[in-house]
Amino acid sequence: MTKKTMSKEEYLNKVKEIDTTKGAPKQLEDTDFLTVAKERRSVRQYDPDFKMDKSEILEILETATLAPSSSNLQPWRFLVIEDQKEKERLLPIANNQQQIVDASVVIAILGDREAYKNAEQIYSAIAEKGNMPDEVKDMYVNSILDGYGKFPKDRLAKIAHIDGGLVSMQLMLAAKAKGYDTVPMGGYDEAQFLKAFNVPENYEAIMLISLGKGSKAGFEKTRLPLDDVLSWNRFE
Ligand SMILES: Cc1cc2nc3c(=O)[nH]c(=O)nc-3n(C[C@H](O)[C@H](O)[C@H](O)COP(=O)(O)O)c2cc1C
Repeated sequence: MTKKTMSKEEYLNKVKEIDTTKGAPKQLEDTDFLTVAKERRSVRQYDPDFKMDKSEILEILETATLAPSSSNLQPWRFLVIEDQKEKERLLPIANNQQQIVDASVVIAILGDREAYKNAEQIYSAIAEKGNMPDEVKDMYVNSILDGYGKFPKDRLAKIAHIDGGLVSMQLMLAAKAKGYDTVPMGGYDEAQFLKAFNVPENYEAIMLISLGKGSKAGFEKTRLPLDDVLSWNRFE
């Protein structure tokens, strides 16, 4: 093996040079869950002229927010970047990854460390549906405000990242089920992004996701054998 490495930008963009896939991403006739999960791929080439309807973006986001979250506090926050000028501004911050400007939108998945402050709103809605007696709702809300309110910043950040990962995955699968493609991206300068897009201080940057009509399929999947990553019952 050679000892050569690459710059971050080269690392993130090399994939397009070496990927010899010719066809567009597969359009699924069957969108049952297992097919969608098996067929979703990270797609890095998009039709730049294709603009998604806002209603479709909203439907994908609504479906994503059905993901589970710690105490149902739903700390995810979304910044949908659809304006071409704003995408151009993001491009250098995201290592000039072309999908930033070519996909219909880039969705910044953010996580609010102060999401627990919405406990009253969330649990009142549960109680109003008749799914929780009022006094139990009060106990939940008080415990959340008291408990999460005392968590240190890094614990709240960890919760935001876990829940942010779950909502991101659900978003990408929902998009695939609707015939769209995505790529999750961690290859961007987080500090620059937070500043340039005026992101509130209490939000964590989780990842960026390009969403649109793919023009070239992503890599065929290669995974470690399940045996290499699986143990049963306890580690010896
Ligand atoms: C948190 C995270 C960050 C990622 N960052 C990037 C990125 O910046 N650029 C990119 O092209 N792909 C990125 N990827 C995509 C991975 O390279 C891809 O998921 C992996 O190679 C597996 O391929 P698949 O998604 O097609 O199954 C990222 C994936 C994850 C989960």
